[in-house]
Amino acid sequence: MADIGTDIQRAARLLTQGNLVAIPTETVYGLAGNAFNLSAVAKIFEVKNRPSFDPLIVHTYSQEQVETFVEHFPPKARKLAKAFWPGPLTLLLPKKDLIPDLVTSGMDTVAIRIPNQPLTLSILQKLDFPLVAPSANPFGYVSPTSAQHVDDQLGEKIEYILDGGVCQIGIESTILGFDDDIPVIHRLGGLSREEIESVIGQVAVRPHSSSNPKAPGMLKSHYSPGKKLILGDLQELLGAYGHLKCGVITFNKKVNAVDDDHQYVLAENGDVTNAAKNLFAALREMDKKNIDIILAEPVPNHGLGPAINDRLKRAAAK
Ligand code: TXA
Ligand code: MG
Repeated sequence: MADIGTDIQRAARLLTQGNLVAIPTETVYGLAGNAFNLSAVAKIFEVKNRPSFDPLIVHTYSQEQVETFVEHFPPKARKLAKAFWPGPLTLLLPKKDLIPDLVTSGMDTVAIRIPNQPLTLSILQKLDFPLVAPSANPFGYVSPTSAQHVDDQLGEKIEYILDGGVCQIGIESTILGFDDDIPVIHRLGGLSREEIESVIGQVAVRPHSSSNPKAPGMLKSHYSPGKKLILGDLQELLGAYGHLKCGVITFNKKVNAVDDDHQYVLAENGDVTNAAKNLFAALREMDKKNIDIILAEPVPNHGLGPAINDRLKRAAAK
């Protein structure tokens, strides 16, 4: 098991020595390493069992720093950075040579964000290098939203987990890039499309495809619990699967047919933002229960709803 604590000095020291540390962000916990240290970057791929063609996000603390990593900062990207950084937005920008090819899997754009988490921001300010940090889970599994989630799966492989409590947002950042200066969302996430459009006008959303190995976070099957998950209308699903031991993930109301302790209500108040915060904990909890199958219903399609439904769909794809 890893040590879990709030010792920023220790985390900074380990990172400076080329070791990995799990760090909290407002979205999910990340498995962080020095972006400029190739052996640290390689260790991240190894610990996560992540294919080397899946690029990493660079985390830093100021827009000034970002300027030193990229060749070009389109005006719309600047507007978004001003409005939402620090926050759950990752921008894909043309990289300078300074950013190692290993980080971007050979692509000429780098994914960058400034996370909004006080412990992690203060570490980033102390270091003279940025951090690469994919979600701190084995490749393909549900992202961690607490220090305990990280320890459950990667505790044997890392020395230290910086504990920032439960992640405020609970799903990964929204990734936005530019095709010839036209903004395109590559991954729905913790910043809603509506919020982005309120600043730069209409954006396209790239439909995810399993034929795009360059961005496996976009793979059809991802964020998967170990147990089979089926997404749909709960009454219909309970009709079809009621003979099995079912665990149920509902949006805001319990169902009658299933024991209370086999149910997880994402947001009793009916707020999709709340549902996002609880989603990955719900998937993990259901995965641990003595049940045959997880049944889940989609949440309303506004705000963070589409990002939640996207993850439920991928969790259901096997
Ligand atoms: O909220 C988050 O973004 C979290 C926290 C820790 O910051 N990080 C995260 O990283 O979700 P990861 O590695 O689990 O997901 C990053 C996604 C992957 O799907 C990757 O393929 C995509 O970002 N990505 C990274 N660099 C890219 C690039 N240059 N072009 C296209 N996609 C890229
Ligand atoms: Mg991930």
